Amino acid sequence: MLIALNLESPMKKKYLYLETYGCQMNEYDSDRIHNALDVELTRNPKDADYIIVNTCAIREKADQKALSSLGRYKHLKSSNPGLIIGMAGCVAQLYGNKLLKQMPYLDFVLGPRAIPNLPQIISEIETSNTRKIDISFDIEEVFEVNPYHEEGRVSAFVSIQQGCNKQCAYCIVPTVRGGEVNRPMEDIVKETVYLLSKGVREITLIGQTVNSWKHEKYRFGDLLRIIGELEGLERLRFTTSYPRDITKRMVDAMKEVKEVCSHIHLPVQSGSDNVLKLMNRTYSREWYLDSVNRLRDAIPDIAISTDMIIGFPGETDSDFEQSVSLLEEVEFDSSFSFKYSPRPGTVGEKLAKTGSIDDKISGERLSIFQEKQKYYTLKKNLERIGKTEEVLVEGFSKHDNNFLFFFTTHNRILNFEGGGNLVGKMVNVRVEEGLPNSLRGVIPN
Ligand code: 5AD
Repeated sequence: MLIALNLESPMKKKYLYLETYGCQMNEYDSDRIHNALDVELTRNPKDADYIIVNTCAIREKADQKALSSLGRYKHLKSSNPGLIIGMAGCVAQLYGNKLLKQMPYLDFVLGPRAIPNLPQIISEIETSNTRKIDISFDIEEVFEVNPYHEEGRVSAFVSIQQGCNKQCAYCIVPTVRGGEVNRPMEDIVKETVYLLSKGVREITLIGQTVNSWKHEKYRFGDLLRIIGELEGLERLRFTTSYPRDITKRMVDAMKEVKEVCSHIHLPVQSGSDNVLKLMNRTYSREWYLDSVNRLRDAIPDIAISTDMIIGFPGETDSDFEQSVSLLEEVEFDSSFSFKYSPRPGTVGEKLAKTGSIDDKISGERLSIFQEKQKYYTLKKNLERIGKTEEVLVEGFSKHDNNFLFFFTTHNRILNFEGGGNLVGKMVNVRVEEGLPNSLRGVIPN
């Protein structure tokens, strides 16, 4: 009977077109979305049975991009009436039902914490032709889905934390991803062991404030030691760190576990105490500099990168100058800097009502900051010339197929000429050239 049924309706493979915006957490969530469904990925939306856009709400520009990208797919429903279109991620969480009203072609809206419910949602849409929304914060299931793993990948993310408990005045993350939930140690180890068994050699632990992670008696430093010991792991990275939570336990582990890379992404957001206070960052410029010194005392050549917000409400010329002087004092290896963008329901949005900074002024400040950063990035890249870097080869360079690329321990991109047999291997490369955003090197004879 069963066989006859199968012959009459052989299972047709379904295809998913998945578009991802935003941070590493979103990339990881996209893998969870793929993993939750029994589908193949397609690069062509025309071939898709499901189109899902995984969105980012961190700044207004990002969330507008997500909305306009969805609009591009609505016409596909006329040639493919069975097509299911969904919006996932932080914009989905932020605007919820409004999106269904605004976009009649949208079949479902799915928040970041509701991903485990996706198969059920799709099956209900397919059987009863309804539209669905799930923006629940179901803590029990947050970590249930293991990530999809693409064969041949050398490097993979492991999420150790969802949500965020900090209350930074500018930030939408706690609203759209909920409070901090730390993943149990056993689950992190289990997922890492699985990835290592698939040939992964580099793990990046991810969380909104990754170093605030704790579980039972374990703290973040303990986690670095335990993961660092796992068989097959060559490199361990983590992102994003919160300055207040740089502890001795963490710094000691970074120094002593040889797999941990010599790089930390440590967003400062402003160099001015006035602005840090308005942002509710809970540390001062001095505290930040002290954390930098503690890291450099322990790991002298550690690379430090940061995030900087320019034009937060109330930022004066002198506040901005302090952000520039902090860059000069720390000499960040790289930074991401952004014009402040008010987000719905945040304290920053209220502050912007009276203290917003003229867009032109923010733009000018941003370019001054970015020019300065370019100088330090190039300076640091030039300092690497003549040094030998031990690197894990990630794959072929996007720009030139004769070149292999990888991230150095300091998180710089290094390209060198070589064959595909080196992918996934640790090799020594001598740096020959320092470019504005990368290095070039050769394998010494
Ligand atoms: N406006 C501008 N930048 C922001 N970020 C977070 N929220 C905002 C906002 N409302 C920046 C911070 C953060 C990075 C991921 O995005 O610098 O570290």
